[in-house]
Amino acid sequence: MIDGKPKIVLTRRWPEVVEARMAELGEVVLNESDEPLSEQELEAALATADVVCPTVTDALPAALFQGEIRAGLLANFGVGYNHIDVAAAQDAGVQISNTPGVLTEATAEIALTLLLMSARRAGEGERHVREGAWTGWRPTHMLSTQVTGKTLGIVGMGRIGTHFARQAHHGLGMRIVYHSRSAVAAEVASELGAERLDLDELLESADFVSLHCPATPETRHLIDAEALTRMQEHAHLINTARGDIVDEAALVAALREGVIAGAGLDVYAAEPELTAGLAELSQVVLLPHMGSGTIETREAMGMCAFENVAAFLAGRSLPNPVNQE
Ligand code: DGY
Repeated sequence: MIDGKPKIVLTRRWPEVVEARMAELGEVVLNESDEPLSEQELEAALATADVVCPTVTDALPAALFQGEIRAGLLANFGVGYNHIDVAAAQDAGVQISNTPGVLTEATAEIALTLLLMSARRAGEGERHVREGAWTGWRPTHMLSTQVTGKTLGIVGMGRIGTHFARQAHHGLGMRIVYHSRSAVAAEVASELGAERLDLDELLESADFVSLHCPATPETRHLIDAEALTRMQEHAHLINTARGDIVDEAALVAALREGVIAGAGLDVYAAEPELTAGLAELSQVVLLPHMGSGTIETREAMGMCAFENVAAFLAGRSLPNPVNQE
């Protein structure tokens, strides 16, 4: 039982409307600078607050849970929680929640944006016009790849992967193949005509490969030099999941050598740093981890975290618990 007003630390600024709701639950400590907290600041938050609400920019490795811990809940602002050592947190008596479901559509929209931008050379074209390099229309200018009717390979057919498959299939007539731990429900497979393949088959047959699996030790560098070699020369790789899933140095080499045609990335292994060589490649579209970045979605993520904090403080079970797999 918490004595007095619970102390809740938000490690970054949240949409104002959600910060205001959170203040109904206790004494909220805001990070006015909105810079990532240091390791020492996170350690202090865990030792002095009842609830800490981190984001993807907060690294919470096992070492942070070895000291004094007052926090009973880490209410993560986001669905992905690979930045938290879940086992160590749970061993230290800290529950964890995340925000699944509310960012499905927004993230799938960014995957679609990247796919279209990469295939149709939209980033390159935009830079071309802005730089004043455009000399006018001609039949052979900036030719790109048509998307309609092509094959989309989804790696990780969870909520976001399935939503993206729907957009691509129904909107662009794309054929869907997927690789996932479990098969999708029969009605979804039949709605999308989706075929489940092993990873190598998917890489060899897809025109576009889009990553939607969680970042785990098993998926780290799932797309490495060998996997890239299996992809077709005209294929594009899209990543809106986590940077670690791709060996970025191998991706840079594959793009330089023409092993694949292009890539669209919203996430990176060491955000906000970019792997050497990536930014120089014109056939890569680079976005700043903005998959869930709509006003509607960020407010919904905040409200989802709020519901988890409210449940915890009321002694109820968490609506969105994260448990060690
Ligand atoms: C998520 O929710 O996982 C987004 O990538 C932000 O962390």
